[in-house]
Amino acid sequence: MTYRIAVLPGDGIGVEVVPQALRVLEAIASKYGMSFQFTEALIGGAAIDATGHPLPTETLELCQKSDAVFLGAIGGPKWDTLPVHLRPEGAALLPLRKHLGLYANVRPCRAFSALIDASTLKRDVIEGTDLLVMRELTGGLYFGEKKRETIEGGERAVDTLVYTTAEVERIVRLAFEAARKRRGEVCSVDKANVLESSRLWRETTMRIAADYPDVTLTHMYVDNCAMQLVRYPKQFDVIVTENMFGDILTDQASMLAGSLGMLPSASIGGQVALYEPAHGSAPDIAGQNKANPLATILSAAMMLEYSFNQVEAAREIEKAVEAVLNKGYRTGDIMEAGKTLVNTVEMTDRVIEELA
Ligand code: NAI
Ligand code: MG
Repeated sequence: MTYRIAVLPGDGIGVEVVPQALRVLEAIASKYGMSFQFTEALIGGAAIDATGHPLPTETLELCQKSDAVFLGAIGGPKWDTLPVHLRPEGAALLPLRKHLGLYANVRPCRAFSALIDASTLKRDVIEGTDLLVMRELTGGLYFGEKKRETIEGGERAVDTLVYTTAEVERIVRLAFEAARKRRGEVCSVDKANVLESSRLWRETTMRIAADYPDVTLTHMYVDNCAMQLVRYPKQFDVIVTENMFGDILTDQASMLAGSLGMLPSASIGGQVALYEPAHGSAPDIAGQNKANPLATILSAAMMLEYSFNQVEAAREIEKAVEAVLNKGYRTGDIMEAGKTLVNTVEMTDRVIEELA
C-alpha cells in the first residue's frame, strides 16, 4: 500500500524534526508492506518569506489530495509583528484545519517510566499514566460571536459559547471509538452545573453511550478534572471535552509526559487528518540539532494508526521510543545526571536501531 503524505516542515525546529520522523517511517515501511510518497510544501513563516502568505493555495491543494498531512511547527519572532491576518498560526493552522474539516484534536499523554524521575511530579502519582484527550476544535467560545460595546464607565465585552447536538455527537463518537481500542473508558468533562451548552453536551453524550455498551461512560466537572489530573492521572483513559476546556486540560496534562518534546498530536474528523508534535517552532534552540524528535516520531506513529490503521507498526515505533529512553538516551530537554546526551539526528538513529 502506498500512502501519499503532504509534508509541511514549517519553521524553526520543524525543519529539523520532520525529516527525522520521515526516516523512521521509511525504516519501518517494508516490514509492514507499506510505502510512502512524501511531497513537501511550504507553510508558516517559510511560506510568507517565499510567497507572501502563510498558507499558499498550492499547499492547501496538496493537503486536500493527500492521504494525510504531516506538519512540523510554524511561527517565530521574525513574523510575530505582522498583522494578525498574516501571522503564521492564525492565518495558516486554523484555516488549514477548517478546510480539512478537522473538528477533533487528539492528544495522547503517556508518562514514560524512564522520564519520571526528571519530572516535577512524584513517581507514585504519575507512573502508569496513559491517557488520551479528545478536544473539540471548531466550536465553543473561541468561535462564537464576539462583541465589544461602550457602556457608562467603561466597556462591555461578550464571547458566546455555542454547541449544536450534531457538533457534540460527532466528537463524542470519536471518543467512544478511541476508547474501544484502549481500556474502554470515556470521561466526559463539562460544567453542566452552570452552563447550558454543557447540559446539552452531557445529554448528548449519554444518548450516544447507548450505542457503545462495551464502553464505560463517566462525567466530571472541568474544575474537578483539573484537580484529578494532578492528584491521580492514572484514573483516566479517554477524556472528551469542548474546545476551551480541552485547550487548558491538554496543556496541564502535557506536564505528565515530562516535556513538550515528548507529546504527539493529531487533528482528525475530516477526510484527511493532520499530525504534528504538540510543541511549537522553539526558536531558542532552532538550527542547532538539539531538538527532541520524539514528539514528531510519535506523531508519525499516530498517523499510521489513525489514518492507515497500521496499528502494529505504530506500536512498534512507540516501543522503540520507550526502549531508547530505557537505555538512557536523552536530548537536552529531558536530560538528567547519569544519562547519555544525544542530538536530534542521533536520537533518531537510536530509534531506528531498535526497529531493525
Ligand atoms: P515552543 O513549544 O516552541 O517552545 C517552548 C519551550 O519548549 C522552548 O524553550 C523550547 O525550546 C522547548 N521545546 C519545544 N519543543 C521542543 C523539542 N522538540 N525539543 C526540545 N525542546 C523543545 O513554544 P513557544 O516558545 O511559546 O513558541 C515558539 C513559536 O512557535 C511561536 O512563534 C509560536 O507561535 C509557535 N507555536 C507554533 C505551534 C504550532 O505550529 N502548532 C504551537 C505552539 C507554538
Ligand atoms: Mg494551548
